[in-house]
Amino acid sequence: MKFTGEQNETWKILFNRQVENIKKFACEEFITGFENLKLSGSRIPSLLEINRRLMPATGWKAVRTPVRYLSDKQWAKHMARREFPITNFIRGRKELDFTPEPDLFHDIFGHLPLLMNPEVAELIEIFSEEYRRADKKKLRRVSQLWWNTVEFGLIRENREIKAFGAGLMSSFGEIQKLKPGGAKVVQFSIQRGIQQPRAVASFHTEYLVIESVSELIEDLKGFFAIHGTGGGKK
Ligand SMILES: [Fe+2]
Repeated sequence: MKFTGEQNETWKILFNRQVENIKKFACEEFITGFENLKLSGSRIPSLLEINRRLMPATGWKAVRTPVRYLSDKQWAKHMARREFPITNFIRGRKELDFTPEPDLFHDIFGHLPLLMNPEVAELIEIFSEEYRRADKKKLRRVSQLWWNTVEFGLIRENREIKAFGAGLMSSFGEIQKLKPGGAKVVQFSIQRGIQQPRAVASFHTEYLVIESVSELIEDLKGFFAIHGTGGGKK
């Protein structure tokens, strides 16, 4: 896929200014994955170069989709094959600070470094399995839990609170809410994750913090075993 000079330049600007934020606010899992994924900072990376590092790490593969918004079911079909869909749309120069519509900067820079981590890959697999099987009512709960963890969750790291969600990793402004006193932080629980409102057209005012990826996995497995689609039993 060929991108224009302007699109590559947009990537370069987004990438370089976000690297500083990542160092300050991102969790260790992200930083390690980011270092190992070695994304280009000067142009939009090709899927070939991404997959050369991603596939050996966790078996996941980035695939291109021309569709900006895949339906939940289309998306889950990809995910069930361990394919992470990457849109070919990149935000315009006037939307550097905020795009309500996820673009390829969000998909690649926000999500893929964490997918380099086997534990996070397992988490994503648990979610995608539920997405694939859920009916409408269950889908709402799964997508709420996804949103408040994988997209906008925080994680406790030693005595600090760090960004975990991809929506934070790809947002220059929102990740800076992790500055002291910048965001209201509430302990994650499944119930909270389901109820916590989403902010789509603005930054969130409150974030949920998980203790660790392994604890989140255990919580989700327990919940989905009772209230989900039953995971592997069908
Ligand atoms: Fe996302």
